[in-house]
Parts: sequence; structure tokens; C-alpha cells
Amino acid sequence: MCGIIGYLGPKSPVNVLLEGLKKLEYRGYDSAGLAVVKGKEIYLCRVKGKIKDLEANLRANPIDGHYGLGHTRWATHGRPSEINAHPHRDCEGNIVVVHNGIIENYLSLKERLIKNGHVFKTETDTEVIAHLIEENFSGSLEEAVICAVQSMEGSFAFACLSPLDPEKIVGARSGPPLIVGIGEEEYFLASDVIPILDHTRRVVFMADQEIAILSRDGLKFFDFSGQPISKVSTELNWSPLMVEKRGFKHFMLKEIYEQPQVVRETLSEALSLDFGEVNLPELEAAKDRLKECRQAVIIACGTSYHAGLIGQIMLESLAALPTRVEYASEFRYRDILISPEDLIIAISQSGETADTLAAIRGLKGKSGPLLAICNVPGSSLVREAELTLLTQAGPEVGVAATKTFSAQIATLTLLALWLGRARGGLEKEKAIEIMLELQRIPHRMEQILNNKERVENLAYRFSSYSHFLYLGRWISYPVALEGALKLKEISYIHAEGYAGGEMKHGPIALIDEKMPTLAVIPKDRVFEKMLSNINEIKARDGIVIALTDNQAELENHVDYFLPIPSTHPLLSPFLTVLPLQLFAYTIAYRLGADVDQPRNLAKSVTVE
Ligand code: AGP
Repeated sequence: MCGIIGYLGPKSPVNVLLEGLKKLEYRGYDSAGLAVVKGKEIYLCRVKGKIKDLEANLRANPIDGHYGLGHTRWATHGRPSEINAHPHRDCEGNIVVVHNGIIENYLSLKERLIKNGHVFKTETDTEVIAHLIEENFSGSLEEAVICAVQSMEGSFAFACLSPLDPEKIVGARSGPPLIVGIGEEEYFLASDVIPILDHTRRVVFMADQEIAILSRDGLKFFDFSGQPISKVSTELNWSPLMVEKRGFKHFMLKEIYEQPQVVRETLSEALSLDFGEVNLPELEAAKDRLKECRQAVIIACGTSYHAGLIGQIMLESLAALPTRVEYASEFRYRDILISPEDLIIAISQSGETADTLAAIRGLKGKSGPLLAICNVPGSSLVREAELTLLTQAGPEVGVAATKTFSAQIATLTLLALWLGRARGGLEKEKAIEIMLELQRIPHRMEQILNNKERVENLAYRFSSYSHFLYLGRWISYPVALEGALKLKEISYIHAEGYAGGEMKHGPIALIDEKMPTLAVIPKDRVFEKMLSNINEIKARDGIVIALTDNQAELENHVDYFLPIPSTHPLLSPFLTVLPLQLFAYTIAYRLGADVDQPRNLAKSVTVE
């Protein structure tokens, strides 16, 4: 939610900031702005709208400078408008701030600042930061920031500059992510690594309660009490090419097509077929504790939660480990009984989801090992977890999660196999059978993606419908939830994901010829049960599209087919999710929706 970028170096800051903002746009896209400093002057440009609107404005009214800050906004306080767009300034216009997060006590701070004579111009919480810094400024920007953060509550990452303490950018983090990029005689400050990959792969991940000072003299870090701290930089293995569309119309489509490779990479080092073992060196040191765990509690949000539901079935089936799956946003407010024998698995693509972080923080000292399954190295979740399995999806830019979902379920499958073998409940032969089939999954995924015409035709045929039902049972139930979420978030069409057996307890009342059902029905232990649910829908004039590897047995029961190759029943989600992603994508595209940046959403939800 909101993207921040700062640049200090020999290049034109306007270009670096603009290009960076384009790559941060997935974090928020209702307004944008940038500020650059030239000598004693600050030049500012802000617009309501997207980065392309900011770019057009800058083309019409060019500005230039030596260093600067940029911001793309996802509104929390104050409607999207030019006046509320960042950067924000103090009374004199000498201090400029861009911010991600929420200053929870901004009203009381604002009241106090107004009493002290400060004049506010916007409806945002961010503006209090500029005035607080102004109030504490006596020549050193970092000293003013250290004083200002003492009175700020909430979750925030911000960057500021002032020509009164020139050639310097100061950033502070308490919640949302902030990283520093180190290039050749240049520094970057950004909400994530994606906008700086074109310039450098050397980064420092800032932790909470840390302040970074970027200046021509070098880089310094302090904690919020003003004590200097030393930080270590990391060399990333992500490349700038990974965040290009490479001929695809949208990032989402590119990311859908990357899934076979993502699964291949996840499996490549991990499977040891001769021995029926999975190699997860990240877990070895904790093996004894992990195999003794009493239960697993999976905590996640959104698509990651759906992956968790699949993980639950894997862990129960393969590792005989009782498993619960919890929405982080609900879990954090419950009085949950957790014991030191419980394994906590937090799943998050970004590693920055506020609810997921709050939920795991609430468990500190109460639970057993905390294992993160995360796609972003150096993210908050990774830094706070005891153990981490990094998913091998590479950066995901489309707001709708696709390849990270496949990477998560691949990682969960490996974890379930590893735990099954470690706990002794999973026979070597059964492990090998699943591992062999797992190896074939990327190829089977490619078969589906190379034959997308049928999905596209169906998507075109149904793009004028306003309601859809997605049904599945057992391991296909989370896939139905995920398919419905994809359609909702990118096409704005109402879609319900439901467990097939629950239909008759209410939702069946919705069925008519205007509400088509996508039934996820691979040949597995619930095939016949799902078939009965399909028949109940057909008996009420419903239209049914079946995703199945068993067309023959469904021939006279459904209206349309989306065929998938057969696989081991536990692995079917790798395949069934693909047509559903393509279906949602094609409908959204046909309806002219903004596929990569759907309205009201942001890629990583760093506020509650
Ligand atoms: C998925 O398409 C969504 N955009 C969203 O539900 C997402 O999965 C959720 O916000 C969780 O994010 P995380 O995986 O980064 O924690």
C-alpha cells in the first residue's frame, strides 16, 4: 500500500524516480507525485491518477534536480486527489515527505501542531510527519527525524529531504518495508527491491525502528533512540528481466505462463528420488523439534490462505500431522490456545502483510517453531521467522497472485513429504510415487497453458454474466475459492467459491440459468460426491462447466468441459488452478478491466 522511492546519485533523479514508480505502481495507483531538489529549491509535481498521468504532467511541465523522492498512493486518509497526493510539505515548504502506512495518532498530533501554529493543507495523516520534522529541525534532518518518530504511533515507513540540510535523504521504518540500494556512487531508498533492480542488486533491508541516512558522504544507520547501528548488505539474485512483461500483454498473463518453470525450480534441488527423500536443508537444524510437533497451524491471507488450505490436506495426508488453517486477520484477535509443541507456518508472498505479521507476533514465546513460506528474501516475515522456505517464483508484479500460489503449493508439498518421512508415517514407496508424479507436473501445466483456446472461448462466451459459482470438494475446494477470488479481484464480477457438499445448505437457492457453475472435479475420492452436487445444479436449470480429467463419466451431466491432464489426486490443484486463472484473466481483459492493477487493491497489504 503506497510505494516510496528516493534517489541520490549522478543520474537525472526525475527519470530514475519515474521509472521506479512505474515498477512500484502495483503497491498503489490512485495518485502519484515526486519532488526533486536543485540548490535551495524544491520542485514538486503531483497528480490524481496513475504514473502515466504523472509522466504526462512532467512532460508538459518539466522539472529537474539533483536528488529526490517519489510516491505512488493507495489512499487511507483523505480521498485520492492532487492535494492529498504525496510528497507532503511542512509550513514553509522546506521539508518534503513521502510515506507508506498509517500514523494512528495523527489527529492528536495534528491538534497539537495546529496549536503550535502549524498550518495544514491536506486531509492526510502523512502531513503531520512533515510538520513534526519541521518542529524538531535545527539544522540536521536526521536529528529532526529521530525526534519526530518518538511521538509517532502506528505503522509507517517514510522518506524525507530538505534543502536546509542538503544532499541528503533520510528514511525511517516502523512497520512497512523499506530497503536501501547501493549502486556506483548512488543510493536508493525504496519500498521494495523491484524499482532498483535496473541499477543495482546490492541492498540493505531495514528493520523496524531503524533510520537510514543517504548522503554524498556515504550511508549511515541509526536506531530510533539515535544510536548508530551497522548493517550488512545482501546481493540479490533477482534480475531486471524478471520484472519486464517480455511480450505479454499483462504481468498477470506472463506470470501465469511462468508457473511450470517456477514449479520446476522449486523441485529441482529438493527431490532425491533414489531414496524417497526431500532435501530441505533450511529445516535440518530444527528436524528433531519439527518431527515432534503436535499440530501445525497455518496462518495466511487471501491467495496464500487458499494455498494453506491445500497445505493442510497435504500435511494431514502425507505427514499425519493435524493441521489448522487460519485467516491471519481473524486469528490475531482470538484467544487461541497454542502450545510450544505447535508448529506455526506463516504463508505470505510479500512477507509484509500486516495481519500475518501481527498474528505471528502475537504468538511469540507461546508456540513452537515459526516457519515462513515466503517469496521475498529479506522481508519482515523472513526476518522474524525462525525457519524459512523461500518460494522460487521470482518477483510477482500482477496484483492478482498466480505464480506465487503455485510456488506456495509446491513448497507445501515438499514440506509435507519431508515431514512425512521425518515423522516416519510416510512409506518410502508412497513418497517416491508422489515425487515421480510431482516431477511431471511442470510438463502437465505446460500442456494446459499451450491449449488455452477452449478456456478463452468459454471466457468470451460467459463474459456478460454477472454471477458465478465455483464449486469443489476436498483438495479442489481451495481451488474453487482461489478461482472465485481471481475472477472477483480482476474482473469485478461476483463469484462465490463454495464447498460442493455445502450447496444444499443454502447456496443452491441462488442457482438459475443466470448463475453458471465452474465445478472443479478431477477423478479423485470425492468425484462421485461432486457429481451428485453437479446433478443437483443441473436439476435446477444451472449451467455447469466442469474442470476434469474424466470427461467420459461426466458426458451427459454438464454443459461444457475444461479438460485437464490426470495426475496424483493430491497434486491436482497445480493443474486445476490454471484454467481458472486464465478464465478470470480473459474475462477481465475482454471487459477492459485493468488486469494488473485492479481497482481498490494493492499488492501487499501493509495496513490493517
Ligand atoms: C491475491 O490475488 C491477492 N491479491 C491477495 O489476496 C493476497 O493473496 C493477500 O493480500 C495476501 O498477500 P501475501 O501473500 O503477500 O501475504
